[in-house]
Amino acid sequence: MMKTILITGSTDGLGKEVARRLVTQGHKVLIHGRNPEKGQLVINELAKLTDQANIEYFNADLSSLAEVKKLSKDILASRSRLDVLVNNAGIGPRTKDSPRQLSKDGLEMFFAVNYLAGYFLARELMPLLKSSAPARVINVASIAQVAINFDDPMLENNYGDYQAYSQSKLAQILHTMDLAQQLAGSGVSANSLHPATLMNTKMVLDSSALPDSRTTVEEGADALENLIMGDASVLLSGGYYDGLTKAQPDAQAFDKQTLQELQELSEKLISQAI
Ligand SMILES: NC(=O)c1ccc[n+]([C@@H]2O[C@H](COP(=O)([O-])OP(=O)(O)OC[C@H]3O[C@@H](n4cnc5c(N)ncnc54)[C@H](OP(=O)(O)O)[C@@H]3O)[C@@H](O)[C@H]2O)c1
Repeated sequence: MMKTILITGSTDGLGKEVARRLVTQGHKVLIHGRNPEKGQLVINELAKLTDQANIEYFNADLSSLAEVKKLSKDILASRSRLDVLVNNAGIGPRTKDSPRQLSKDGLEMFFAVNYLAGYFLARELMPLLKSSAPARVINVASIAQVAINFDDPMLENNYGDYQAYSQSKLAQILHTMDLAQQLAGSGVSANSLHPATLMNTKMVLDSSALPDSRTTVEEGADALENLIMGDASVLLSGGYYDGLTKAQPDAQAFDKQTLQELQELSEKLISQAI
């Protein structure tokens, strides 16, 4: 059956490759990016593979919660169904000594872009996902996950890009676990994954903080495509995958109090910004 799938950060890397695969299979794919010219180039490329009606571009800089809100409004205005939300957009670590950066809302940048934007987008699009059930939320996290220190979640002390990236990735996994609990019985599942280690994407190739690429974007795309299209009765909900295999995330992902704490923090930060 033809599905409607939103992939954030599908103007490059993993998101773009999976978008290409899905349109080739005849699905409707909502492309998202932060640069309209780059978005148009992706739409032009994909238009050679599918009917123009099967692709649409949405622009939003995820470092602004107001733009995330607008993105959700644009999608709700344009679509009557959404089968899959893939929170894939992300930024990677730069160098060991890179300075802490703030989002447009004054939040630590990795937390804001890699995690909080996806949390907010899922919250705003949940009525549409529920009315389209069976539906899926998929968070593209990473094996480079570390526990969040709730005494300093914005990393105002002892800042490092790698720590910031890694805690944002665990936050995505905690969000997935929390969603899976909240959505039990709703027909909307939530799963997260580490797509592949050091794929040959811009994030890795541009970074001097990461070792050389070791896998291809195709390998990560196989893993993400599995969560988007794979058999729901096998995948279930609340899972964390390392590639194609179900894996154990960091212990913090199983701590109910931590899930609650992250949810409260997220809601507080969103209400302060919007
Ligand atoms: N590469 C790896 O080995 C690896 C390993 C584990 C997990 N992951 C995860 O996989 C996901 C995809 O990464 P990738 O390797 O495909 O990276 P990528 O090639 O750099 O693509 C990242 C995508 O996110 C978009 N993006 C970044 N910041 C944004 C912002 N502020 N607002 C809106 N869009 C934004 C980018 O837009 P632009 O095109 O404008 O930059 C691009 O479309 C990320 O969540 C990453 O953490 C990657």
